[in-house]
Amino acid sequence: MNQPSATPILQARGISKYFGAVTALEGVDLSLAPGEVLGVVGDNGAGKSTLMKILSGLFRPSDGEILVNGRPVHFHSPRDAHRNGIEMVYQDLALAGNMRIFENIFLGREPGRTFGGLTLIDQAGSRRLAAEHLERLQIHVKSVDQNVEELSGGQQQAVAIARATAFAAKVVIMDEPTAALAIKEVGKVLDLIRRLKDHGVGVILISHRMDDVFYVCDRVMALFHGRNFAEARLADTSRNEVIGWIMGTKGHSTALAHDKVI
Ligand SMILES: Nc1ncnc2c1ncn2[C@@H]1O[C@H](COP(=O)(O)OP(=O)(O)O)[C@@H](O)[C@H]1O
Ligand SMILES: [Mg+2]
Repeated sequence: MNQPSATPILQARGISKYFGAVTALEGVDLSLAPGEVLGVVGDNGAGKSTLMKILSGLFRPSDGEILVNGRPVHFHSPRDAHRNGIEMVYQDLALAGNMRIFENIFLGREPGRTFGGLTLIDQAGSRRLAAEHLERLQIHVKSVDQNVEELSGGQQQAVAIARATAFAAKVVIMDEPTAALAIKEVGKVLDLIRRLKDHGVGVILISHRMDDVFYVCDRVMALFHGRNFAEARLADTSRNEVIGWIMGTKGHSTALAHDKVI
């Protein structure tokens, strides 16, 4: 238990979040190992997005703590999370459609040189670094000079993931990354998640698609009404069991899950 290799790259302990009278999360624990893909499932309103926004520095928890490599951290903004190697890919992509691929990858973080407070953006350097990074992740585009709006949904999602991982990310959090994609593009994004794993990056994947969860995750945890409900290694569970968890049923009662109203 105390071996250094067992230290999670990211850990949440007893996280609660209240929005006025609404309890979005209550005492939630989460742990992620390097190179692990953790699926997070739960019904609408279960608290998945709120938890991810806390882990990525967008929201502050009402209670509980976050640890990176076993060390407590306090995120006041996504920039703080970024500095700790934690990146989030948002559901709505958040790419600038009218800008080129390499510009999107570096948006606001261009490699450049600073002279007396003035940063000169190194375009050639940005292009080269972006192309190398896409190559590393086996993301194929015609040119890094293409505008993002010319790309398919799947390619845009790949660019969003490339953006999230361009700066030595240790953890990438993805909230429904395949929800808006055509079926033939889903596999490509999932394969990209596998490649991040091969690079030792930990991934948290929120998804309601059991196909995605069972294709790419090592472990799955379910939230129900803002609390930890169940979790298991993928090898030790089944689609029906996980679907049961989403609906708030466990064990033998899973077979009756279809009787519940979602
Ligand atoms: N900014 C907010 N203000 C008030 N309530 C919120 C806010 N964000 C989320 N909630 C509430 O928190 C609960 C969890 O929401 P969310 O994390 O979005 O769930 P999920 O992503 O699992 O669908 C819901 O009851 C939702 O209405
Ligand atoms: Mg959500």
